[in-house]
Amino acid sequence: MGNKLNFPATERNVSAILQVLQKHLPSGDIFEIASGSGQHVVQFAKAMPDHVFWPSDPDPDHIKSINAWANENRLANLKIASSLDCTNSKWINGQKDLSLPNTATAILCINMIHIAPIAAAQGLFTGANKRLGAGGILYLYGPFFGISEQEAASNIAFDLDLQQRDRTWGVRHLNIVKKIAYNEGFDLSTIIEMPANNYSVLFVRK
Ligand SMILES: C[S@@+](CC[C@H](N)C(=O)[O-])C[C@H]1O[C@@H](n2cnc3c(N)ncnc32)[C@H](O)[C@@H]1O
Repeated sequence: MGNKLNFPATERNVSAILQVLQKHLPSGDIFEIASGSGQHVVQFAKAMPDHVFWPSDPDPDHIKSINAWANENRLANLKIASSLDCTNSKWINGQKDLSLPNTATAILCINMIHIAPIAAAQGLFTGANKRLGAGGILYLYGPFFGISEQEAASNIAFDLDLQQRDRTWGVRHLNIVKKIAYNEGFDLSTIIEMPANNYSVLFVRK
């Protein structure tokens, strides 16, 4: 087992997310922000050999876990995990980072923007604007308010729970995310309903 972390929710949602990515991701270099345990990115890299995956996370234990899953699977298209916090000025200003290519064709961020202050969503889009060319995809996955006509009870309860854990956290309203996205040069392209009241939300760089 070693450094490998096992997130049960990640194991549960990986195949539904993979189906969306296989349909919508342009091939090329794909950055993942907030890779967590690394269970997702290993499955993505296995199933999508034409895409090169660059995982990252700010948590040192998560970096170790991502690299442990990667070492076990030995995939040529899965790179070593970078230590990356998307509120960090280096990411926000688009500075060169020796551990990542300067540009990507898509950026993935799964289950992060509600478990972080809104500055993380802002930083994600600001940095993504600098690293994606026209047509580049920013893929978000997670719970959102403002999509379903009636909010799911489980998402309302989850939002309260998040705010009790940290009052800067919470399920984000799609309009707030859209506003950040538009200001950073992205259009909303696709919303896909996912299991357990989650959504895949795809933005495209103008
Ligand atoms: C709920 S976990 C999701 C992990 C993984 N994407 C998944 O779905 O299994 C949230 C992750 O966001 C990361 N995170 C929190 N704040 C961040 C930030 N400002 N920039 C990048 N990642 C961040 C955490 O370290 C954690 O790995």
